Amino acid sequence: MREDKSSPEFVYKAFAEYYDAYVAGFEADFEVYLRLIKPGLKVLEIGCGTGRVLKPLLESGAMVVGVDISWAMLALAHKKLASSCDSGALKLLNHNFVYSPIPERFDRVFVTFYTFNYLLSYENALSFLKNIYSSMNDGAVLLMDMFFPSIYYDPAIEGKWQERYLNLGEKPIRLFDRRTMQGLVEKREQVFEEDGGRQEITTLRRFYDKNETARLLREAGFLSVKFADAYDSVLFHQLEPLEITAHSFLVMARREAGGGEG
Ligand SMILES: C[S@@+](CC[C@H](N)C(=O)[O-])C[C@H]1O[C@@H](n2cnc3c(N)ncnc32)[C@H](O)[C@@H]1O
Repeated sequence: MREDKSSPEFVYKAFAEYYDAYVAGFEADFEVYLRLIKPGLKVLEIGCGTGRVLKPLLESGAMVVGVDISWAMLALAHKKLASSCDSGALKLLNHNFVYSPIPERFDRVFVTFYTFNYLLSYENALSFLKNIYSSMNDGAVLLMDMFFPSIYYDPAIEGKWQERYLNLGEKPIRLFDRRTMQGLVEKREQVFEEDGGRQEITTLRRFYDKNETARLLREAGFLSVKFADAYDSVLFHQLEPLEITAHSFLVMARREAGGGEG
């Protein structure tokens, strides 16, 4: 069978070795997750990748299940967090909520750092959310970190190659990055160049604005849906009638007690 080169499984097989260098130092989102957890709650992170967010969740004493569809990313998470796996505090699973829920139920579900935006169709996004809803306890909270295309901030970058350097351990890596929009989908082409090596990666992410996100969540069964424009739990608010989407944003939704199946 031929591999689909734009699928997240394929993309993250190649991206995994560069991922930690690419996101190095980014921790601005930790607090918003940490404020929602307390001992005894069952926590699920979807799109856990190499464990950037799993680590502080575990350090705060949470019992966590980390889910991803990339074996390469899960392998790196396992390598970094092996002692938590051994102690039973962390379970790592290769699972895709587009296709089914998991039997365990959770009190907190975090869909971190634009993972939701890898779902390119409304239908897949809806089935993903319905299956998450089925895996949540009554009163459980879902928090998702949603992507805003960089071209919408700065249309001048469309189609232009941009260059920067990353450090992978001691090794410098040259990164070229070019973005284009195809409807609501951003195509990001990256070329990672290091001594004697070159890796080309194309990532597709679909933009969902706040109104579409609220519609999807309500259709999936969530009644209470709130938004925040920054990584700050104090800023969550109901969607205003004419509210526009001008940034990446967070959305928080609750499975109400007695809410029934999505
Ligand atoms: C940008 S990375 C985020 C990794 C990590 N959570 C972080 O914040 O650094 C997105 C991750 O989502 C995963 N992913 C994409 N689609 C997914 C899906 N349907 N279910 C689970 N994981 C998915 C990718 O394999 C990748 O590891």
